[in-house]
Order: sequence, then C-alpha cells, then structure tokens
Amino acid sequence: MSVRFSAWSLKGLTGDDLRVLTSIERGMINHEYVDVELIASISGLAKDYVEVVLKKLNKLGLVQRYRGSFTGYILTSRGYDCLAFNALVKRGTIVAISETPVGEGKESEVYLGKTSGERIVAVKVHRAGRTSFRGAKRVRGYVADKRHFSWLYLSRLAARNEYEALKILWRERVAVPEPVDWNRHVVVTEYVEGVELSEVPPLSEPILTLEKILAEVEKAYKAGVVHGDLNEYNVIVTKDEDIKLLDWPQWVSSAHPNAAFYLKRDIENIVNFFTRKYGLRLNKELYLSNIFTRLGLVA
Ligand SMILES: Nc1ncnc2c1ncn2[C@@H]1O[C@H](COP(=O)(O)OP(=O)(O)O)[C@@H](O)[C@H]1O
Ligand SMILES: [Mg+2]
Repeated sequence: MSVRFSAWSLKGLTGDDLRVLTSIERGMINHEYVDVELIASISGLAKDYVEVVLKKLNKLGLVQRYRGSFTGYILTSRGYDCLAFNALVKRGTIVAISETPVGEGKESEVYLGKTSGERIVAVKVHRAGRTSFRGAKRVRGYVADKRHFSWLYLSRLAARNEYEALKILWRERVAVPEPVDWNRHVVVTEYVEGVELSEVPPLSEPILTLEKILAEVEKAYKAGVVHGDLNEYNVIVTKDEDIKLLDWPQWVSSAHPNAAFYLKRDIENIVNFFTRKYGLRLNKELYLSNIFTRLGLVA
C-alpha cells in the first residue's frame, strides 16, 4: 500500500487552539454563530487572546467568521475533523491518516489510518446533511423534532448510529468490518482489502456470492439490524471472493414497523444487481419468500 501518512491538519495546533475549537463546538449547540464573548467565557481564556487564536484558526480554514450585528464563528467541517482526529489520536486509536481519501461515497470520505499498534484501519468521516440523499433524509427525520440542528449534529448522529450497528453485527459474527472506535462524526473500523461489488471483475461463482450476501442480510436481521441502503456499492468483495457489508448509518432495528419493507428492498437491490450484471435468471420472489418465511415475516 503506497500511501503517504501525515498528521494532517493537526500539525501546528496548540492546546489553546483546540480549546477554542471545542468552545465553538459547544456554543454551536444553542447558537447559529458563536460570538467571541461566549467563546472566551466557555474556554476561560481572555477575549483578546481568543481573538488572536481565532485569526489563526480562520487562516487555517478551521473556523468561519460571520460579520453581522456581531462577529460570530462556526466550525468548518475541517475544524470539526480536527477535533475528532485529535480525540482519536489522544486515545492512540490512530497515529496517522492518509492525505487523500481511499473511498468517497455520497455521504462520507474514507481515509486509511494507522493505529499505535501499526494496524491499518479505515477512517470514515461522515458528511451527513451535505446532500439530500435517502440516508440523510432518514437520519434527519430522527432529529426533526430538535429546534436547532446542522450538518455537525447529523454527521455525529450518522457516525454514532453506524458504530452502534457495527458493534451489534460484529458481536453476532455478521460479515462487517470490525468496529475499532468512534468520535464525533468519525468511525474507525478494520480496513477491508477488496473491490466494491459494483466494480468487481466477473466472479467465478456469482450465485454463490449472491447467496453469501443474502445469508449475511438474514443473519443481520436476526441480530436485530436491517441495513436499509444495501446495494452493489456497499458490498466489498475480497480476493478470495469473500464479502463484507459496509455503510450502516441508516440502519433500522428489526423491530421497526417498516423493517420488513427495508429488508425487502435490500434483498431486491442485490438480486436485481446480479440479474443485471451476470444475466442470471434468478427467481427473486423465491429468494424473498424463503428468507421471509425463515424469519417469520410476511412479504
Ligand atoms: N472498512 C472499509 N474498508 C475498505 N474500504 C472501505 C471501508 N469502508 C468504506 N470503504 C470504501 O469507501 C466507500 C464509501 O464508504 P461507505 O461506508 O459506503 O460510505 P458512503 O455512505 O459514503 O457510501 C465504500 O464504497 C468503500 O469503497
Ligand atoms: Mg456507501
């Protein structure tokens, strides 16, 4: 793997810089823009000094200034990244991170990381609320009753949900990347070497792979988890044609009133992909009814 690791934007940040960033994060819970007075009061630092720090952070692109009837600040997504990376670095979860993403989805950037034990991990940075895709909407529905929310909360919620699902699934031995740690909008997992199902060169035994995937979907349901956004981009195929299911922030509980609906859609997406790509004549209804019957569900 020829990736140059860097300490990324954490380089050159002092304890006080991070303290000011954290204070803005805190202030953003109740304020759209956080004014300097409030930052000073939350951080316990002198206002003049806070202004100097803010200037530096602004230059680094970690905060964004708003000038209106007062001068306020918000974190940029880079600023939020710094807080999450700093926490993960302090815990020794990661010591380095790749400069460029190795995977980019509609709602995230995935970097390679290295742990203090030299293990290579995937570092998924959630960017919920950036686009208006299905997953984001569902996550958003979850916080719709909150008066104040933003990309910051949505991204953190997505990460928390994903980590929670991975913990359950990993414990129940479903084929997912091993969860390692999370902080704010960042989830650290095992790095799975392989190719997305959508990109994989012709499989030697496509039906076998399809059935492996469906078996994991069924196992996940039994563990209490329905993926909800399963498709050929969220399945990784390793070189021995094993599979792992990725991308769980929008999962719903098997007890959710619409669980069967999402389960059905997940199964159909996968079967449709194999039908399309491999020209197989698959009996979708039979796959569905077999799984539903075994799970005691009505299709
Ligand atoms: N643990 C991992 N190991 C290897 N590659 C990964 C891992 N997690 C994500 N990726 C890569 O990054 C892409 C985007 O990640 P994903 O979890 O699907 O997020 P998104 O919500 O952005 O689609 C994946 O399709 C995959 O190629
Ligand atoms: Mg994805």
